[in-house]
Amino acid sequence: MTRLVTFAVVLIAIIVASNLETFKSEKVSNEPFDLKKQELAHANHLQTLKELEEKRLALLNPVKEVEEEVEGPLVVLDTPQLVHGSEVYKTCVVCHGRKGEGKKSQKAPQIGGQLDWYIEKQLTDMKSGARVNKVMAPYLKKLEAQDFKDLAAYISKLPWSERK
Ligand code: HEC
Repeated sequence: MTRLVTFAVVLIAIIVASNLETFKSEKVSNEPFDLKKQELAHANHLQTLKELEEKRLALLNPVKEVEEEVEGPLVVLDTPQLVHGSEVYKTCVVCHGRKGEGKKSQKAPQIGGQLDWYIEKQLTDMKSGARVNKVMAPYLKKLEAQDFKDLAAYISKLPWSERK
């Protein structure tokens, strides 16, 4: 009987001691509750969850590689005028795009599919200075009235895109 009591006492002592140990090692912070901080932590947590969800969705629906469109010639070059116009137009592509669709980064408007007489008039006016276009001036310096006609013929045949 005494043995049993001793055993029980020792057991209880051990349990109490080990509980005290964990109690001691538990860090108690006296920091005041900071709502802002908690909200921020919560927002970060939500952000992480969102990113994980996006990654999960990206894995589920892999983006299909867009196959390079194989296009035929944009304009059928069946007259010497169109051939020449398309040659000269190569200098304009950097700003106006291959299809004359325009480029926002260059502030260059869409011109593909525009009326030929309008294009020709703008180019003539830009060359004479009646319409001031400083960025285009160097490109027009070497061009003549006939070049403008040919350019206009070519550009007006490019497709006008509805989106722009
Ligand atoms: C360095 C960039 C650049 C190059 C190269 C360039 N352009 Fe332009 N083009 C512009 C910008 C920018 C405008 C708009 C200018 C403005 O605000 O008046 C413009 C305007 C035009 C317009 C008038 C459009 C309209 O709706 O009034 C025509 C036509 C045109 N360009 C044709 C050409 C042709 C043809 C060439 C090649 C010979 C050419 N551009 C080369 C930048 C360029």
